[in-house]
Amino acid sequence: MATERGANIPPIKIYSDKFEDHVVLITGAAQGIGETTAKLFAKQGAALILVDIEEDKLKRVLQEIEAAGGKGLIRVCDISDYGQCEQVVEDAIKTYGKIDVLIQLAAIYPFHSIIEHPIDLYQKVLSININASFYFIRTVLPHMQEAGYGRIINTASGTLQLPSPGQNAYVTSKGGVIGMTRQLAVEAGPGITANVIMPGLIQTEHAWNLLSKPDGTNPVFDQLSEKQCVHRAGQPEDVAYTIAFIASPEASFISGQIFDCGGGATFH
Ligand SMILES: NC(=O)c1ccc[n+]([C@@H]2O[C@H](COP(=O)([O-])OP(=O)(O)OC[C@H]3O[C@@H](n4cnc5c(N)ncnc54)[C@H](O)[C@@H]3O)[C@@H](O)[C@H]2O)c1
Repeated sequence: MATERGANIPPIKIYSDKFEDHVVLITGAAQGIGETTAKLFAKQGAALILVDIEEDKLKRVLQEIEAAGGKGLIRVCDISDYGQCEQVVEDAIKTYGKIDVLIQLAAIYPFHSIIEHPIDLYQKVLSININASFYFIRTVLPHMQEAGYGRIINTASGTLQLPSPGQNAYVTSKGGVIGMTRQLAVEAGPGITANVIMPGLIQTEHAWNLLSKPDGTNPVFDQLSEKQCVHRAGQPEDVAYTIAFIASPEASFISGQIFDCGGGATFH
C-alpha cells in the first residue's frame, strides 16, 4: 500500500471472518478497483459473484481468489442488457439464496469533446454507467427487502467535483448515479442502505495508461497529488477499504451519502 512521504501508517488489519456468510455481488470485477475490492471481500470470508464482460480476466481473478482460500463464482455479463443482469441475479439467488451486498463498479470512461462525441458512444456510456446500476438495483432489491438487510454501493467520480474537458458523458452519468442512489435510499426499506463511493483519481492500470505520456510521466496524477491533502496517488485499495466500511453491518445508520475517497482534493 502506497504511503505519503513522512506518513507512518500502522499495519492495516484484515479480519478473515468479517464478511463470513455475506454474499457480495461486484460488477466490474475483472480488473482495477473492482478486482481489488473483490479480493478484499474474499480475504474477509465473503462469497462473491464476480460480474464483468471480460471472461478471461474474470477467470484469472477467481483463480487468484481461490488460490488464496477465497470463494465465489463468475458471471460474464454485458450489464447494459437488462435480461443479462436479471439472469445473473437469478443465478446468484439460486446458488446462494441471498445477496447481502451489491457493489457496482463497472463503467467506461472515454474522452471526447462535446461537439465531437459520437452519439452512439454517448448512449453507451449512459447505458453502462447509469442504466445498468438501475437494472441491478431493480432485480436485487426485492431479495434484500425480503431479507430485511442489504448494502448497495454505487460508484460516482471525483470528476463531478473537478471535471476535465472531454468527459461530458462520463460526468453526466456519474451525476445520475448520485441522484439514483439518493432516491433509492428513501425507497429501499428497513435494514437496507444505499450509498455512493466517489473515488478521486485512482491508479488503476486503465486510468494510469489513459493519462500517461509516452515518456512514462503522468502529469495529471502528479498535479492532482500536489492539490490533494494527502500527497500521493490514490490506490484501488483506498477505495476498496472505504467500500468495505460502507458494506459492513455497523454502517447501518448511514444512507444516501457520498463517500469521497480522493485524498481531499476537494471539499463538500
Ligand atoms: N480509476 C479512477 O481514477 C477512477 C476515478 C473515479 C471513479 N472511478 C470509477 O471507479 C470504477 C472502477 O474504475 P476502474 O479504474 O477500476 O475501471 P476499469 O476500466 O479498470 O474497470 C472497469 C471494469 O468494468 C468492466 N465493464 C465495462 N463495460 C462493461 C459492460 N458493458 N458489462 C460488464 N462489465 C463492463 C470492464 O471490463 C472493466 O473490467 C468505475 O465506475 C469508474 O468510473 C475510477
